[in-house]
Amino acid sequence: MTVCYARFETTPATLDVNIGVGVRMPSCHSPSTTSYGLVPHDLGSQNVAKGPSVLSTRDQPRLPMSKNTGLEDFLIFGAPDIQDAEIAEVVDSLESGWLGTGPKVARFERDFAAYKGLSENHVAAVNSCTAALHVSMIAAGIGPGDEVITTPMTFCATVNAIIHAGATPVLADVDPRTMNIDPAEVEARITPRTRAILPVHFAGRPCEMNELLEVADNHGLKVIEDAAHAIESEYHGRKTGTFGDFGCFSFYVTKNVATGEGGMVTARNEQDIHRIKTLALHGMTKDAWHRFSDKGFRHYQVVEAGFKYNMMDLQAAIGIHQLARIEHNWRRRQSIWEAYQKAFADLPVGLPLDPAPMTRHGYHLYTLMIDQAVCSYSRDDVLEAMTKHRIGVGVHYLAIPEHQYYQHRYGWREEDWPNARRIGQQTLTLPLSPKLTDHDVDRVIDAVRSSL
Ligand SMILES: Cc1ncc(COP(=O)(O)O)c(C=O)c1O
Repeated sequence: MTVCYARFETTPATLDVNIGVGVRMPSCHSPSTTSYGLVPHDLGSQNVAKGPSVLSTRDQPRLPMSKNTGLEDFLIFGAPDIQDAEIAEVVDSLESGWLGTGPKVARFERDFAAYKGLSENHVAAVNSCTAALHVSMIAAGIGPGDEVITTPMTFCATVNAIIHAGATPVLADVDPRTMNIDPAEVEARITPRTRAILPVHFAGRPCEMNELLEVADNHGLKVIEDAAHAIESEYHGRKTGTFGDFGCFSFYVTKNVATGEGGMVTARNEQDIHRIKTLALHGMTKDAWHRFSDKGFRHYQVVEAGFKYNMMDLQAAIGIHQLARIEHNWRRRQSIWEAYQKAFADLPVGLPLDPAPMTRHGYHLYTLMIDQAVCSYSRDDVLEAMTKHRIGVGVHYLAIPEHQYYQHRYGWREEDWPNARRIGQQTLTLPLSPKLTDHDVDRVIDAVRSSL
């Protein structure tokens, strides 16, 4: 039975946060921002209440940035905001005697489905987004001889999942401004062997789904969305991960909802979720909760050679409370993002494109573009300078064809994807965790300004 996705209305935000970062004195550089685009920022679909600014960004006191790490003065990149509720829930699991897949995973699935506006029969928790992508590919019937078109501007897991399904990855270059896969490039790469498109909503910015779905429809292709960065994102009123046949989410430590390791699959068809749940647990017909409960032992059958991809209650214990604060954390990241946009407007760096009209950005990654020809420092110089300022930074990503494995296996040359290559060489990601205090944000801004 095919069930359509229902639209989920987010609760209007009631809390507006502002981190209180003022306009700063320009540095020695002349105002020469090489923005890779600033477009009108539409808040229509974002449900963000614009109330009076408040300096407080906290619901309750949070743990220090890097307690017990030996890195106390270092701003850890992507540190998750773990609060007392998560800690208490984990302790509850530890004390309960049930650590593995059980009632907390079931609750996390229900909560996640509700957040995405889906019924619980359309989601399956797994132990990573990599696993989610792999089992989605198999459930989509993709295998040897098939080609799957994806982006070169992604984490290697996206491409590896295609390879692990036995298929061949085909890369379509990105739009240099949005950094998302370019639908025209996708169309140009379609062959008789193409079976699916695997778009990645890069940094939380939704892809051009209308155009991608049209290409998919015209050529009878499946769509598997990599929404690892994009739990909260929306495109024309619909939530990311509900456009395609499958949506794959990550709860890795740096992600918008963190469980340590963890992932979720959403699927248009209930039968696909049923298959994915089986595939994610060795191909068994019953998970442990249903074998060992107080109803007495239940026999199971192995119906196919599956994988060990199930999520544990210990992980779900964290996720349940992370998810409960998802909108609050989104607003905090939005305010940090906007502070960065304002603080770097006069620097000779490229700033991220503001969200497109009728979309909601997930604000997962805030990336600068450092072009040595414009600002006299290379990206790697700035990475090093930021580390000296004790600020953890990232690179998302070196373009996929830059990696030796893919070059050797597929003969890829990075110059064939010039937009992704340029981004990979110039991009630098700043901390955007909701755990950042106002002081931390000031430190990041000061470090960027004095590193350029
Ligand atoms: C775009 C993208 N896809 C997939 C993944 C894999 O996620 P996970 O670590 O949960 O397997 C990541 C993780 O960083 C990612 O950023």
